[in-house]
Amino acid sequence: MVGTFPRTILRVVDIYLFCGAGVDLLPRGLLSLGWKGQKRKMKGIFLTIEGLDGAGKTTQLELLRDWFRKRGYDPLFTREPGGTRVGDGVRELLLNRDYTGLVPLAEAFLYSASRAQLVAEVIVPALLAGRIVVCDRFVDSSIAYQGYGRGLPRDFVEGINRRATGDLKPHLTLLLDLEPGLRLERLEQQGEPPRDRLEVEGDAFYTRVREGYLELARENPRRIRVISARQSIMAVHGQIVQYVAEFLSGSAPRPREKAGRAKSPRPGGRFLG
Ligand SMILES: Nc1ncnc2c1ncn2[C@@H]1O[C@H](COP(=O)(O)OP(=O)(O)OP(=O)(O)O)[C@@H](O)[C@H]1O
Ligand SMILES: [Mg+2]
Repeated sequence: MVGTFPRTILRVVDIYLFCGAGVDLLPRGLLSLGWKGQKRKMKGIFLTIEGLDGAGKTTQLELLRDWFRKRGYDPLFTREPGGTRVGDGVRELLLNRDYTGLVPLAEAFLYSASRAQLVAEVIVPALLAGRIVVCDRFVDSSIAYQGYGRGLPRDFVEGINRRATGDLKPHLTLLLDLEPGLRLERLEQQGEPPRDRLEVEGDAFYTRVREGYLELARENPRRIRVISARQSIMAVHGQIVQYVAEFLSGSAPRPREKAGRAKSPRPGGRFLG
């Protein structure tokens, strides 16, 4: 009898969630996505890089890969959209200019679908295994592009991504800040026509996206480090490794959401100590 009551409640909650009823009424903690209870066991470190197309993310991740390797680390590098077989399929749908007429809402769901797959299949297992994970774009991209750029309500974009990721947040985000005009200059220098659906958007769109990124940085000053992407490639690299090394050595403040856990080890100690 004693054990029956809680079990019954759990069953009711189960059915409630299965039917999709009243999900919004439940506290976030109950919206378990399978791995959420394992968050404390995730000893790895999650880094992301963000910025407008052409800001230099891929260029910098190549350099960061070498920097880590020289120091004996073997981080997992992944990217969005994509990073999984399913995600790569979604990436093709999202970036291929042949698929015209994709409405902003569908676009937002596709990005979050790819992200849900990446989190479940790649990021969470790697963090549970104690690895450093470096991801080219994450939720901040959706808030900046689908929210600020496309004009979808920000709380909606945040909501679907919270569900997609189980509210997983990067420990450190490197934001390469670039003026939209420079983005075009770089693409032109490459001598390539715009490659995908987003790259054909004009300056007004990218100005809103940039403003979205900067707003996020203002709101999360401890997690998001803004680096001017108009500097030379090596100057940007220098700043990136300074922030990463600071974080790994534990000298950087922990992200706000983890600050309360006094007993959890600072991640850096184990990696650089
Ligand atoms: N600091 C820099 N100064 C000048 N040119 C740069 C700099 N960083 C990158 N580039 C050049 O800009 C172009 C775009 O860089 P890259 O592909 O790394 O950007 P990205 O942010 O990954 O873009 P995307 O979002 O489209 O993947 C490349 O030709 C690269 O060589
Ligand atoms: Mg890139």
